[in-house]
Amino acid sequence: MELCKITGLRGKVTVPGDKSISHRSIMFGSIADGTTEVHNFLKGADCLATIRCFRTLGIDIGENDSTVTIHGKGLHGLAAPSDILDVGNSGTTTRLLSGILAGQTFDSKLSGDESLNSRPMKRIIDPLTQMGAHISSILRNGCAPLYITPGRLHGIHYTSPVASAQVKSCVLLAGLYAEGETSVTEPSLSRNHTELMLKEFGADVHTFHALDSTKSTAVIQPCPQLCGQKITVPGDISSAAYFIAAGLIVPDSEILIENVGINQTRAGILKVCEDMGGDITLLNERFEGGEKVADILVKTSALHGITIEGDIIPTLIDEIPIIAVMAAVAEGTTIIKDAAELKVKETDRIETVTDNLKAMGCNASPTADGMIITGGQLKGASIHTLLDHRIAMAFSIAALVAEGNTKILNSKCVDVSYPTFYDTFEQLL
Ligand code: S3P
Repeated sequence: MELCKITGLRGKVTVPGDKSISHRSIMFGSIADGTTEVHNFLKGADCLATIRCFRTLGIDIGENDSTVTIHGKGLHGLAAPSDILDVGNSGTTTRLLSGILAGQTFDSKLSGDESLNSRPMKRIIDPLTQMGAHISSILRNGCAPLYITPGRLHGIHYTSPVASAQVKSCVLLAGLYAEGETSVTEPSLSRNHTELMLKEFGADVHTFHALDSTKSTAVIQPCPQLCGQKITVPGDISSAAYFIAAGLIVPDSEILIENVGINQTRAGILKVCEDMGGDITLLNERFEGGEKVADILVKTSALHGITIEGDIIPTLIDEIPIIAVMAAVAEGTTIIKDAAELKVKETDRIETVTDNLKAMGCNASPTADGMIITGGQLKGASIHTLLDHRIAMAFSIAALVAEGNTKILNSKCVDVSYPTFYDTFEQLL
């Protein structure tokens, strides 16, 4: 994909359904009794991998445009897979599905692409093993492929070293199959879609926050039954983030992004935009299916650098590549700290972001847990996405304010979370 400098992005867009919520709708629908109907499901490669895995586990899942119908078979209705479960590029599929598979009475193997198979799985192997699960890394390197055999699970009180919704959700899902209560305490609250949606399906799950620290604990009881639901997936704030940034940094722009999920555990990007001086307004705020939703209006703004650190990081972890792009054109310096988790995403995003920003002439330096970026004029470059969807989309927006042409290499990788990204973009030209 080749892109160049433009002005005047104007119009109204919607973004596809939330990736995290779409994954969970398939998983919980499959282990619920009855039918689950999901509207505005994200048909990105990651969520399609989740559908593929549950079909291999014997679940009948129908697809019609962006509506998906899951014929759930109950907590104990999954069938032994005839093949290895192919999780593609998806960390969410791998970690959440492992929690469910740990509670089954059959053997299973999960494997993904090269990037997925190099991401850390010890973070789920450890707590699942403490619960009595039999799960191992086949190559003994702490990564997928994973091999899971039946184990008798008991509840644990797990203190996670990282604020990770994938780890938390994995343990809570295994908790559905365990004897006794299971809880997960995390250093600060990560996205809570599992807790919200499991409650809608009828699980006994609740969350409490420590009064004297940022720690948060989710508690689940073993569950006799989940009940199929009707779910409408809100637009993904992580996808909206590219158009929020475009509206703020491309001169003479005004963009309305309709129907975006603004769950507080995901909405750190909105605060950062405001703190950087962005003109951003939430309209028509409402609740749909337990999730907060709004329309987001953005207008071109003069941004300035800020420091981003602490508890807000888990609420914007996937948006750091596009925040870095905003920082690269903002006045002054932006410091991002406490974000070492970026190293274990689809790529090492501290490296991929700073390398590509430097290629565009930006003064950007990696640090052990983040990056330091001083804003200025960007110039066109060849962007090495390393097949990371969020790098492709973030740098497509950077291209719009750079002098000269920018080439996004392997831009097709946007299919992972936003197959129609470039089509949405054209609606604003
Ligand atoms: C996700 C959790 C986050 C996020 C990922 C989706 C989820 O990962 O980066 O894109 O759906 O639970 P971690 O749990 O590893 O932080």
